[in-house]
Amino acid sequence: MQTSDSAREILIRAVKGTRDLLPPSTAVWNHVEAVARRVFEAYNYHEIRTPILEDTQLFARGVGQETDIVTKEMYTFEDRDGASVTLRPEATASVMRAYIEHRLDQRPGVQKLYYMGPMFRRERPQKGRYRQFYQIGVEAIGSESPVVDAEVIEMVVELFSRVGLENFTLLLNSVGCQNCRPAYIELLREELAKVAPTLCEDCQRRAQTNPLRVLDCKVPEDQPAIDQLPSILDHLCEICRPHFETVQRLLKHRGVQFEIRPRLVRGLDYYMRTTFEVVHGALGAQNAVLGGGRYDGLAEALGSKIPAPGIGFSIGEDRLVMTLEDRISVPSLDLFIAALGDAAVERAGLLARDLRRGSYSVEVGFDGKLKRSMELANKLGSRYTLIVGEDELARGRYTLKHMASGIQEQLAPEEIAQRLRAKE
Ligand code: HAM
Repeated sequence: MQTSDSAREILIRAVKGTRDLLPPSTAVWNHVEAVARRVFEAYNYHEIRTPILEDTQLFARGVGQETDIVTKEMYTFEDRDGASVTLRPEATASVMRAYIEHRLDQRPGVQKLYYMGPMFRRERPQKGRYRQFYQIGVEAIGSESPVVDAEVIEMVVELFSRVGLENFTLLLNSVGCQNCRPAYIELLREELAKVAPTLCEDCQRRAQTNPLRVLDCKVPEDQPAIDQLPSILDHLCEICRPHFETVQRLLKHRGVQFEIRPRLVRGLDYYMRTTFEVVHGALGAQNAVLGGGRYDGLAEALGSKIPAPGIGFSIGEDRLVMTLEDRISVPSLDLFIAALGDAAVERAGLLARDLRRGSYSVEVGFDGKLKRSMELANKLGSRYTLIVGEDELARGRYTLKHMASGIQEQLAPEEIAQRLRAKE
């Protein structure tokens, strides 16, 4: 491809809605992921990695033809062979596809899977909302039992506590099932017909296409009318009601605090029975840091003859990191070696290699100027600086400076690691 001179002058930037994650912030991302892995493994979850690119039909049928995600937000394109492929907007449908494709139902027990990685939705970018964003999620597939719901939700709270998130609220609801929901939706449609003309444009459309989504409306003027609409919790069937009651009882028994929100319907079509979200006050308009729920009919929607009831959640990692960023300390440099002269650079290289083998973080400055090296060590926030100059090489003892106190001492190479081991 030819590039004209004028085109070459235009600086290339990251695509709108995508961003680079840079240090030191990446340390917070790694912290969150490390804690999540530990918590998931304690609950016997194991990692699954599915492709980012999937057959478009997977999301059309899994997430739902009428959802915002499928109608407006997917990155879908025709592959060179004419196949329609999509960058995954979420991972639950992918995990279920993999579960069916690899006959994971034949493995013993409930299949407990976790994942972390990028998702893609072409939404209007704003604080906390990106077109490439990251989720950490789990799916527990193979049981309808409310015991699994309670364990999954308990794990959410454990994870957020362990990661250091404070002041979050867990919202809980049941959206019923294929037996009770249609009658409720019919009732909703009737009631909506009476008030729809007073509602926002989106709600007027949803009143026709997807009445449940009206309950999710955030337009302030619409709220009084929507609050008056019938509650799904008054219309749960003989299976869904006790299921929801058991989930609540088990959560209370475990000391998990939650608030019931009958209007929590979620934006994906696969949900049935339990749904939940975690919201955090500091996040502003995009305040959901996690969403999840039960999806017992998803396997059948994807063409499976074998039922595969499941429940799971996804954490919006970008949003979680945003709430934690100021509070997590990033790992610092243990030692800066100021090598003064060619011979010193060679010696410093060996010293650095040996200390790095002992897992100390070491940087070698080969600038040759003591003052500049000390300034750089300071800016890098190194705990110690080691000066390796001609005198030190001749004596076989090096000057180690503790940067915070300014204390200096002369040490033999084998004594250095011992000093670094000290906490401060
Ligand atoms: P979701 O509610 O669409 O659910 O997304 C879960 C979380 O991902 C949201 O609460 C939010 O924190 C984050 N998120 C969503 N879109 C964006 C965006 N554009 N920018 C930044 N963060 C975003 C699901 O995706 C389901 N798969 C959850 C699930 C798993 N249900 C059952 N299993």
